[in-house]
Amino acid sequence: MLHELQAHAQRLAATPLSALIAADPARAEEFALRCGPLYANFARQRYDRAALQALFEIADRADLSGAMRRLLEGEPVNLTEARPALHSALRSDLARSAFALAARAQALSAQLRMRELVAELEASDVTDIVSIGIGGSDLGPRLVVDALARPDARFNVHFISNVDGHAAQRVLARLAPARTAAVMISKTFTTQETLLNGAIVRDWLGDASRLYAVSANPQQVAEFGIPPERTLPMWDWVGGRYSLWSAVGFPIALALGMHDFEQLLEGAAEMDAHALHAPPRENLPVWHALTAVWNRNGLHASTQAVLPYDERLRLLPSYLQQLVMESLGKSVRLDGSDIDLHTVPVWWGGAGTDAQHSFFQALHQGTQVVPADFIGVIRAEHAYADNHAALLANLLAQTEALANGQDSEDPHRRYPGNRPSTLLLLDALTPRTLGMLIALYEHSVYLQSVLWQINAFDQFGVELGKQLARRLLPTLDGVGEASDPVTQAVLDALRASSVKG
Ligand code: F6P
Repeated sequence: MLHELQAHAQRLAATPLSALIAADPARAEEFALRCGPLYANFARQRYDRAALQALFEIADRADLSGAMRRLLEGEPVNLTEARPALHSALRSDLARSAFALAARAQALSAQLRMRELVAELEASDVTDIVSIGIGGSDLGPRLVVDALARPDARFNVHFISNVDGHAAQRVLARLAPARTAAVMISKTFTTQETLLNGAIVRDWLGDASRLYAVSANPQQVAEFGIPPERTLPMWDWVGGRYSLWSAVGFPIALALGMHDFEQLLEGAAEMDAHALHAPPRENLPVWHALTAVWNRNGLHASTQAVLPYDERLRLLPSYLQQLVMESLGKSVRLDGSDIDLHTVPVWWGGAGTDAQHSFFQALHQGTQVVPADFIGVIRAEHAYADNHAALLANLLAQTEALANGQDSEDPHRRYPGNRPSTLLLLDALTPRTLGMLIALYEHSVYLQSVLWQINAFDQFGVELGKQLARRLLPTLDGVGEASDPVTQAVLDALRASSVKG
């Protein structure tokens, strides 16, 4: 199905983006859509109406609307693990199936429990919270807290994820154990990084009564020494990288307060309803997903940039790297057959305008075309009006320069243009709009997986490295040898220099 896109891409190969827009200026308005406070403009993508028509026909044939309904109703869309992916049940009341309703009830009761624990901590003399988790048990809360926590927040929330002991050392050096509470977040509660860092923090706290947990494995949590009354639940029907809406968001609720956490869920719920009900041509996740496969399979773009023009969203590229690449980094279809197209490109990026002074040279004149998502926020929350005007002017300028380029007699000063981008604009950055934005990406990722017929909800690719690390751990203490000759040579070098050092 997606192979058809190549014919359209070839047809359009000699027509630059500026010519596409000049020939059809109405697309500036008509390739734009809005979902409440979130505006999206796709006019600077390198498709014309005929290619877009082909994309929407593909969407119909792939039954994206049915796929969205199946996701929200809790069908086992994660086929390789025979599970649903019901992150929508953490925030929405859209589903009718018995399973989804039961999940929703569990989510609401966990939220209630979380509210009590937040209140308990607010009433204590704790000033700082340390959140210990990694991947999906870290990146979402870290993003939201970094984006939205106010300087006068009730708690300062800190994050430790990396197994590198410098991470724990740096965070703990600034804190007083008696004024600190910690939460270990791990769906499995078997993750090496989180268990090691949790043990460091448990010892550092001295008094384990300020240690909390969020996990789907209460038995392991109890064995670690955290009792049920300080443990919030998770379930196998929520994937780690889709879990910030669950008790995994405990650090968010502590940093922002329960009201703002609920607003975040509210924003995501609005996007769920939009994704489910809006017809494909007015549906933001559908446009976004179709654009992604067009750029990958039509234009053969091997990377995708995400460029938030808002300092508060500087962690969005890292968050999306996990969401998109752990979900879509697959080369086998759901039925086990090899996929004969490229799936996910490399996602990367950074905050504007810093990124302009770093890697934008390559975006403008490099040999590879990098499609980009630009994200802007219309209203700022600071008083520096000149800075905000400059920020928005830069955002507009970059999207235009990348698209239109500029000719020159001097080849070094020539801007080829023809570089596609999508512009996403939020009216303001609030818990609600951030919830909508994140849910937009979640649904786009799922719809891309449907188009590629792959599973967006497993991550077997990360297991082999974890197993090998476990096996190699004793060799660092001199017990046993590596079975691979190169690893063994490196081990010998490590041992030799640690003896010398
Ligand atoms: O890196 C793989 C992974 O399984 C992620 O999918 C997950 O978010 C992360 O590890 C952490 O897992 P857990 O929450 O079980 O500690």
